[in-house]
Amino acid sequence: MSDQPKLTRNGTSYTEAARDHLWGHFTRHSVYEPVEAGGRGGQMPVIVRGQGHHIWDIDGNRYFDGLSGLFTVQVGHGRAELAEAAAKQAAELAYFPLWSYAHPQAIELAERLAGYAPGDLNRVFFTTGGGEAVESAWKLAKQYFKLTGKPTKTKVISRAVAYHGTPQGALSITGIPAAKAVFEPLVPGGLKVPNTGFYRAPEHLQADEYAFGQWAAERIAEMIEFEGADTVAAVFLEPVQNSGGCFPPPPGYFERVRQICDEYDVLLVSDETICAFGRIGSMFACDDFDYVPDIITTAKGLTSGYSPIGAMIASDRLFEPFKSGTNSFAHGFTFGGHPVSAAVAMANLDIMESEGLNKRVADNAPLFKAQLDSLLDIPIVGDVRGAGYFYGIELVKDKATKETFNEDESERLLRGFLSKALYEAGLYCRADDRGDPVVQLAPPLTIGEPEFAEITGMLRSVLTEASNLL
Ligand SMILES: Cc1ncc(COP(=O)(O)O)c(C=O)c1O
Repeated sequence: MSDQPKLTRNGTSYTEAARDHLWGHFTRHSVYEPVEAGGRGGQMPVIVRGQGHHIWDIDGNRYFDGLSGLFTVQVGHGRAELAEAAAKQAAELAYFPLWSYAHPQAIELAERLAGYAPGDLNRVFFTTGGGEAVESAWKLAKQYFKLTGKPTKTKVISRAVAYHGTPQGALSITGIPAAKAVFEPLVPGGLKVPNTGFYRAPEHLQADEYAFGQWAAERIAEMIEFEGADTVAAVFLEPVQNSGGCFPPPPGYFERVRQICDEYDVLLVSDETICAFGRIGSMFACDDFDYVPDIITTAKGLTSGYSPIGAMIASDRLFEPFKSGTNSFAHGFTFGGHPVSAAVAMANLDIMESEGLNKRVADNAPLFKAQLDSLLDIPIVGDVRGAGYFYGIELVKDKATKETFNEDESERLLRGFLSKALYEAGLYCRADDRGDPVVQLAPPLTIGEPEFAEITGMLRSVLTEASNLL
């Protein structure tokens, strides 16, 4: 049992106080409203402790953290070194902005990230998270082209169903109509092209992943041509697209995208909010797929979530116009590059290096994938895909035809049964229907073969039960 008090300072139970005062992110609150008030009478899970790849709720129940919190806790929970790094930094210099001033922690971290980044991506602009990094990259692309004599290059291209964050610019880049509709009109100029979901590739390309990748890349060229290259500033792509359920890039895809971007003078932004820091096997996932972007946006695993920070890492070319005259990037965040977060990031990267976590992911990924592939004998498991320690399991109604669930079935299966059943079985992960229904996994990078089997066992029992319900 947890020794966490069960009551708030007002003497209310945590679940009741959460229901009455906490506004959850992307949360359907009706689930937690009392039945007599028209709700479902559920209790919001309250997580009180983490250690390694486990978390505990307020009632002392233990769960396997199959999603690293939110694709974030690379080194696992409960690392005293990271707590100590934060405490030491807060005692020394808790806060100072990066607005025409600097502090050693931001300087050290910028230098270190530039060292990990490929090519001449040497300039680091800190934010507090991934959406702000994406927002910053779009603003930088616009200003860069204004400063270099191409002022009409303002639009951006991204892919269907991709998630790039919630600020209004980042949301324009996001390709999930349901997440955007209620906030329209958004920032104009966010164009969408097909993603690299090979499982649902157009029929004539289903036998040839390379040809599919070339086809998908050409859709970017086509969009640039259609809109006019003089109007397009950047293409935002994740190395492995999260939303929709872990779409890896087909072989040759990024090579062709890089050529297209060069041909039309369009910046390639690698949104590595999830994929960086070992998630796929390298510090930056563009290295896993052998391309050099113009900008990397990142966050999450940089501190393993122990303190918030994000970063936009830009090439020397993009910084060049900002070196002279009265030019400046008129953009910033009070907490961007926070000293405590920067110190935690340095300690986190120390752990990743000393424990060889990237190599661990690269070595173990085939074993993890093989374990998950074994679930393909379950009737509703249509596809298992991903890379590194980052996988999506797509659920289908009919494996032969790949028919997906309709909205009602998806609602019943994902929200009505799966999310709860997985959690009750002891696995915290994500059942998602922002594209076709998928279960997503992104565990801490510290786990290995025994834990792959443990995760697979929990999934097998719940997915088999779900299959029987249909
Ligand atoms: C690819 C990608 N970009 C941007 C974001 C937004 O990051 P944040 O929630 O830190 O703003 C996310 C969050 O999951 C993401 O996965």
